[in-house]
Amino acid sequence: MGRFQGLLLLALVLNLVFVCNGGTTSIFVRKDEKSVDMPLDSDVFHLPSGYNAPQQVHITQGDLVGRAVIVSWVTEDESGSNAVRYWSENSKHKKLAKGKTVTYRYFNYTSGFIHHTTIKNLKYNTKYYYEVGLEHTTRQFWFTTPPEIGPDVPYTFGVMGDLGQTFDSNRTLSHYHLNSTHGQTMLFVGDLSYADDYPDHDNVRWDTWGRFAERSAAYQPWIWTVGNHELDFAPEIGENKPFKPFSHRYRTPYKASQSTSPFWYSIKRASAHIIVLASYSAYGKYTPQYQWLEEELPKVNRTETPWLIVLMHSPWYNSNSYHYMEGETMRVMFESWFVKYKVDVVFAGHVHAYERSVSANILYLVNYTEPQPNYSAFREASFGHAIFDIKNRTHAYYSWHRNQDGDAVKSDSLWFFNRVWKPVDDST
Ligand SMILES: [Fe+2]
Repeated sequence: MGRFQGLLLLALVLNLVFVCNGGTTSIFVRKDEKSVDMPLDSDVFHLPSGYNAPQQVHITQGDLVGRAVIVSWVTEDESGSNAVRYWSENSKHKKLAKGKTVTYRYFNYTSGFIHHTTIKNLKYNTKYYYEVGLEHTTRQFWFTTPPEIGPDVPYTFGVMGDLGQTFDSNRTLSHYHLNSTHGQTMLFVGDLSYADDYPDHDNVRWDTWGRFAERSAAYQPWIWTVGNHELDFAPEIGENKPFKPFSHRYRTPYKASQSTSPFWYSIKRASAHIIVLASYSAYGKYTPQYQWLEEELPKVNRTETPWLIVLMHSPWYNSNSYHYMEGETMRVMFESWFVKYKVDVVFAGHVHAYERSVSANILYLVNYTEPQPNYSAFREASFGHAIFDIKNRTHAYYSWHRNQDGDAVKSDSLWFFNRVWKPVDDST
């Protein structure tokens, strides 16, 4: 029987009453207080000064292999330039890339000018500076490209999801920054702004979230997965096109992996092949996502990228009463493929508590009434972030860092052994 290890992360309040049976249930339970939104005048949301100053700057991988970056930002006063000026740390030669500018309306909200510009043909493993807002107020940022793809390239991923814009969100993001193991790229498993929790899906909250996340997302790529809070499906106010705000604001390099939709795609980065799936797009037999994944999995070259990571929003394994069994239909469709193709790890979000599972097997269906099912290795009612630190083709060190009284406390960690290069007998 195969096995993969899944993780759920995240953030909200729920009552967990667990008795140890399968694995471990942490005695830590976060304070039973509702997560409180940071007020609009909080400094984390502050508008950069200057006429038409770029705001909400964020980057993501722009191609299949990590030699391109998509830079996105918003201007409010007028469209202004959508060009990005960039140069490598050791070069004085500055280059210019041009992009696209979009706007959208959502009920009574009109967006600012949203710019998306792809910088291509970058050198691997190089620090680049970049500037946006070239005609008016110019702001400068930087990022570092990943090393060239290869089987033993070390690389460190951060993992986060369900971030929102509460005081807890701010703690989580700060702890990620302060972690001594610095994440180089964020694997974000969906649910960004929670704007849909506000009246009429107040899209101003998409803007504030963009400003909040900038301090990380402008400097390292965030790999986007869509969650239910990206749907913004609200026919009662005339908004019947799912994912409209997200689609205008966030881009993914889906075409590079022959996907036909920005919501499912793959990238390669360092020694990892990362597949992003969409929990809220059709995945039944014959659907585009099903067909894409069926063709994608055999293409993964574990000699080139030993680590096969999957991101999705709704977890397949969840022993929490919150969102219980919501991922079950996708599990039924795809789990046997994950076993066959030896997926190393699945990261999911959605459930606002932490859980690491150990085994994928049919016992789930008969065991779920147990207090802590066998598939559940460790669970904890905490918010936090995770780090997946790839060392070489055989070993990766994983850790969960919960938020606790202003500190990040490592409460769960383990070595991952690559399922192709260092298979272990995990039959149960
Ligand atoms: Fe969710």
